[in-house]
Amino acid sequence: MTVGYGNILFPEELPLDPARLSNGLPRAELEIGFGNGEFTVEYAAAHPDTLLIGMEVSPSCIARCARRSGHLSNLRIVCTDARFMMKELFVDASLDRVCMNFPCPWPKNRHARRRVTTGEFSDDLAAVLKIGGVFELVTDEEWYALEAGNALSRHEALSVASYEVGAKRAITTKYERKWLAMGRNIVRLTLTKTKNFTVERWTWSFKNGECDEVHVKTGRPPSREELEKLFGASGVRGDARWVFKRLFRDADLSAPDCWLVETISTDDEFEQRYYLKVSARGNDTLIKLDGTAKVYLTPSVRLAVADLGRRLSACAG
Ligand SMILES: C[S@@+](CC[C@H](N)C(=O)[O-])C[C@H]1O[C@@H](n2cnc3c(N)ncnc32)[C@H](O)[C@@H]1O
Repeated sequence: MTVGYGNILFPEELPLDPARLSNGLPRAELEIGFGNGEFTVEYAAAHPDTLLIGMEVSPSCIARCARRSGHLSNLRIVCTDARFMMKELFVDASLDRVCMNFPCPWPKNRHARRRVTTGEFSDDLAAVLKIGGVFELVTDEEWYALEAGNALSRHEALSVASYEVGAKRAITTKYERKWLAMGRNIVRLTLTKTKNFTVERWTWSFKNGECDEVHVKTGRPPSREELEKLFGASGVRGDARWVFKRLFRDADLSAPDCWLVETISTDDEFEQRYYLKVSARGNDTLIKLDGTAKVYLTPSVRLAVADLGRRLSACAG
């Protein structure tokens, strides 16, 4: 795990080690979708006993929060999609509280999958919260609070603790102030975790030994035809998909037989773009993730490495 400019966290190894991360603080909380980070910074400053992790999908929001937060040692921010990565970053029962302030409601039915609280979110939440831990959702869209409350309270390990219309909070977000100024009601829904629960993780409880490798050796150098055939080659297994988009000759002059294969892979709807490095060395070829790739080792990434290995290996064809 590296902590960079303005508290930005680059998780290189998953899951995050809660003890290392919290640095002795007794509480750990997660805020999903913090926007410009004003609330996040104020909240962390007001709760010095709490490690606050902010998760945001928008790089520009990450940059804005990073500019504001450099002085706080109890705040870490990470750029990723909470729908897929919350369960990957955190071990079971590691968070005291998860909160979402004014999530994008995505009111159209065809966009429902983009709502953070849909899909496997209730399972993931039930896994990462401590027993007695709290999930708090604050929104100006009452239909959204009701929908999320119904969906989450059906979970065997979650139970609704409160539902408040007209909530007033000491620390407010940018959207909250906007909606309050327009006279809209703020709804606050809270749920607690009542019993143990776990989910399988993509990146660290991966069971399929067949593609548990992220380095592959092919046993021979690739031919030009094999490399050319990679353009647009793709694969799918279950929810994992990958495609090899373009091939570049690596400009590293000390390694003249190196290529970079631009790869896009998705797990469910979680998309990652990265390069796989193909290095021919004598009678062998090594395929691995390029060192610049900030990529999570999800099933589709592992499968893409294995697939590229098969396409360039001695038994291909
Ligand atoms: C309507 S804004 C609210 C921002 C802030 N919480 C506030 O109240 O001012 C919703 C935020 O959630 C972020 N977001 C949307 N989907 C997300 C996801 N799947 N994971 C993490 N952040 C997400 C968006 O980038 C956006 O910044």
